Amino acid sequence: MPEVIRHIAAMRTRLAQVRHLEMLKTAPSRSRLGNSLKASGIGFVPTMGALHAGHGALMDAARSECDVVVASVFVNPTQFNNKEDYERYGRNLDADVAFCGIHGVNVVFAPEVEEMYPANRDVFVEIPGVSEGLCGAFRPGHFRGVATVVTKLFNIVQPDIAYFGEKDAQQLAVIRRLVAGLNMPITIVGVPTVRDSDGLALSSRNERLTREDRQRAPLLYRALEAARREIENGVTDAGRIRARGLEVLAQEPSIRVEYFEVVDAESMQPVTRVAGRVCIAAAIWLDGVRLIDNVVSS
Ligand code: PAJ
Repeated sequence: MPEVIRHIAAMRTRLAQVRHLEMLKTAPSRSRLGNSLKASGIGFVPTMGALHAGHGALMDAARSECDVVVASVFVNPTQFNNKEDYERYGRNLDADVAFCGIHGVNVVFAPEVEEMYPANRDVFVEIPGVSEGLCGAFRPGHFRGVATVVTKLFNIVQPDIAYFGEKDAQQLAVIRRLVAGLNMPITIVGVPTVRDSDGLALSSRNERLTREDRQRAPLLYRALEAARREIENGVTDAGRIRARGLEVLAQEPSIRVEYFEVVDAESMQPVTRVAGRVCIAAAIWLDGVRLIDNVVSS
């Protein structure tokens, strides 16, 4: 048994002090279980390392709500559709472990690829619908890789609460669907996007931007905000909202827009007219660096 699992199992034993005998004929809701099993026990923050203040916000949230905080650092090969992108991904475990310590993490789980993907034991988790548009349309297999690794991590760590960034809105929606669809007894918490003072969402990919492109990059958030203001001003036609965002991005010819969409905030399906809560999500390229961001209308 890997050390981390032994460690977590010992903590779980210490936490499992409340015992009830209840007869349930239907699957209990998470909040009901939470009342009897002390849901705030183990908080989990899955990451791919190259940690920054965005990850820090997730760890801080877990620290403030949970007895034990576990973070994973694993660059997951199955979610990269480009081998070079996978190989170039920042890796510095010592710095990441130190970062975790500063943010109150109790256990860092940093497995090798062979630990997570033993040879000849392929199992994949596929989530239709919510995985298909936006990033899913441009990165085939990406969300299958995310759902698979997160399922494996959940089974290893067995958290009560898991924390994900709203920065990756589609990923968050995929994870919510995963947990609901497979009846996993885990509460998913979305943490607001951490941004630089000029609005650019923190991302490990920002390091790869040239100085000029770093100055251009905040236009992505400004375009999303301009689109959101259209909604606040009463515009409901998604085409018009989208056009406003694209108009802002067009100010910078070196930006290539991969997508700029108005989608339902839960299903991630495109809408033509804004009725409920929507997510405005975009992906752009700046000289070989792909950036994504989104805002949600209230
Ligand atoms: P990674 O890109 O390392 O991100 C780990 C978590 O940090 C994700 O939940 C992401 O949404 C969150 N995050 C990143 N930047 C953020 C920011 N600026 N503000 C708030 N949260 C931010 O996402 C992954 O790793 C992987 O797909 C993973 C879920 C670990 C599965 O491999």
